[in-house]
Amino acid sequence: MGSKSSVAIPPQLVKLLEADDNQKVRSHSYYVFNRSTMRHMSLLKTLCLFLFLLITAGYFAIKPLPSFGSHHDLQCSSAAWEKAVRKSAQRKEGGRLVVLLTGAAGFVGSHVSLALKDRGDGVVGLDNFNHYYPVALKRARAAKMKKAGIFTVEGDLNDQKVIARLFSTVTFTHVLHLAAQAGVRYAVHNPLAYVHSNVGGFVTLLEQCKNTVPQPAFVYASSSSVYGLNSKVPFSEDDRTDHPASLYAATKKADEVLAHTYNHIYGLSITALRFFTVYGPWGRPDMAYFSFTKNIIEGRPIKIFQGPNHEELARDFTFIDDIVKGCVSSLDTATPSTGSRGKKRGKAQFRIFNLGNTQPVPVGRFVSILEKHLKKKAIREIVPMPSTGDVMFTHANITKAQRALGYNPQTDLETGLKHFVKWYQTYYAKGSGHEDTLKGYMPF
Ligand SMILES: NC(=O)c1ccc[n+]([C@@H]2O[C@H](COP(=O)([O-])OP(=O)(O)OC[C@H]3O[C@@H](n4cnc5c(N)ncnc54)[C@H](O)[C@@H]3O)[C@@H](O)[C@H]2O)c1
Repeated sequence: MGSKSSVAIPPQLVKLLEADDNQKVRSHSYYVFNRSTMRHMSLLKTLCLFLFLLITAGYFAIKPLPSFGSHHDLQCSSAAWEKAVRKSAQRKEGGRLVVLLTGAAGFVGSHVSLALKDRGDGVVGLDNFNHYYPVALKRARAAKMKKAGIFTVEGDLNDQKVIARLFSTVTFTHVLHLAAQAGVRYAVHNPLAYVHSNVGGFVTLLEQCKNTVPQPAFVYASSSSVYGLNSKVPFSEDDRTDHPASLYAATKKADEVLAHTYNHIYGLSITALRFFTVYGPWGRPDMAYFSFTKNIIEGRPIKIFQGPNHEELARDFTFIDDIVKGCVSSLDTATPSTGSRGKKRGKAQFRIFNLGNTQPVPVGRFVSILEKHLKKKAIREIVPMPSTGDVMFTHANITKAQRALGYNPQTDLETGLKHFVKWYQTYYAKGSGHEDTLKGYMPF
């Protein structure tokens, strides 16, 4: 049996022990408090990080493609800007039109701008120089246009301030609206870029046109992609276009419907041009013919898409010069808008035209022509067509454009590709200063 032994503790020691205990209690509660605070803090940090990531991801998801250079506000409010816009809009001898040309630094836009300027029309360009494909090419096109006396305003279609300023500085007789988020496959990755430019930007511009006195005539780029899954060939403007195969096509179809509304309610004169696969010098690096050329030169394989029953894709490839003629003729034959101050004063022109070449060519044949001009064999990889919105074939009926515009495509694929290859080899030649500008670029 053990017995409790009582030990006498001196009072000083008791005080010390009590003090120590208090300290322990205090430090324990401090420790507990500290632990829970730290836990909360780290939770808070995680939450903040999560929110930050969420906001960043959201921002990039809904953000349009970044525009190159953000000084348009400064430019827009300066006297130098106004002077440059006015000068660019001046007509020369023989010129009749004063055109606001959107998407001016783009492939089609740069060609049409130069053609209009060349015959004396006043042209003011607008482009946001976005990074969808290498901006260096857009800059080079704009530099060429600048030499010809065309000023390209760096601004976004959705920037009402810039758009309004443009229209208050110059009286445009016509708007040729070519700016858009182009490309079928990229729509899978960034659908909102298409909504931003092709729907939001489209309506912003139509609103401005509708409110301007006098209203300009409005000609714009639609696309053969509106024919979507149609199987009746050749595609005619009277066919239904209710089955788009891509979001890009859906936005282009939306534009046709929106355009009709502005024509019907506000009397805007409107012409929609359904372009069929345009190719040529100064073309778009995201398009297949461009990357085929690059890969053949570099000895890398090219992917040729095949349909479900081993069918080959075919396209109604149309040379840029023919498209330019179609655009210019559409501007020349557009009748004036009839509205004023938001009210329609009479029926206004509403037209839709196919601008194609009427000769669909299978992609394999297209590659053979490229090989001939490049004097080099392609390494062909035949792969199943991805389900990202491409259609199997396009084929234009151009009867309407022939009648109304005198449109008559002149350039066959052999000749057109020869021009393209010559330009490509010169532009990207060693020592040209452009040779590295495609480095690392992978089209979608
Ligand atoms: N090239 C073709 O084969 C083809 C076929 C059918 C339709 N289209 C249409 O023709 C038009 C011209 O095509 P492209 O081949 O010259 O394309 P592109 O991409 O070379 O030109 C479009 C230009 O618009 C600009 N842009 C885009 N969004 C803008 C915005 N929100 N504000 C201001 N500028 C903006 C771009 O920076 C670009 O320079 C487009 O509307 C396109 O959808 C082209």
